[in-house]
Amino acid sequence: MGRDVIIACDFASAEKTFEFLDKFTGRKPFVKIGMELFYAEGPAIVKEIKKRGHKIFLDLKLHDIPNTVKKSMAVLSGLDVDMTNLHAAGTKRMMEGALEGLTRPDGTRPLLIAVTQLTSTDQETMEADLLIKEPIDKVVMHYAQNAKDAGLDGVVCSPLEAGKVHDTCGADFLTVTPGVRFADGDIGDQKRVMTPAEAKKIGSDYIVVGRPITAAEDPVAAYERCVAEFCD
Ligand code: C5P
Repeated sequence: MGRDVIIACDFASAEKTFEFLDKFTGRKPFVKIGMELFYAEGPAIVKEIKKRGHKIFLDLKLHDIPNTVKKSMAVLSGLDVDMTNLHAAGTKRMMEGALEGLTRPDGTRPLLIAVTQLTSTDQETMEADLLIKEPIDKVVMHYAQNAKDAGLDGVVCSPLEAGKVHDTCGADFLTVTPGVRFADGDIGDQKRVMTPAEAKKIGSDYIVVGRPITAAEDPVAAYERCVAEFCD
């Protein structure tokens, strides 16, 4: 599987999203649709972006009882997305159910990626709110291993964790990494960042890039710069 740059299309409406995507007249980027856009526009936005020739990562982070997740994943699979995700905290049984639901009658399915601990959760909040007393690195690797045992394709993680995830779960286990910034760019609210070139060096399989592309003066040039640093 080749490395790729996924653009986080964190827009609030279809109009804004298409205004952005219309700029890409050459290579059609892999795009991430998150909860905000999906809840605003529904499945129609997924179908429309797919029709325009983009690959889609549908980032809805499912977490519910195994049967509900299984049936919901079957619906998402029918939307013909290329990648989707869930919370590993939902347990191995939930992840196995998700995979079953996602698999189409012809045996094909979108890639399924697990969220381990959100990067908004730190050691302190994990201990205080979730009553998990283990070191957060250990928890992240344990959840990644659970995802692998359940048959998933990889995890979302910080690029700083990608090397360790590969050491723990194998080189083929995918790492999808947000928190990417250009060396000369704004960090914004991301705390631990890497450049696309560093993410490549450390072994990320996909980088998820939002504002460095969506808020750039020339988004197509910013995207091409990411591709040149990360993929080529
Ligand atoms: O604009 P920026 O490049 O920070 O966007 C990163 C994208 O990745 C956003 O859609 C954000 O929600 C998502 N994300 C993240 N950190 C995580 C998981 C997802 O930044 N741990």
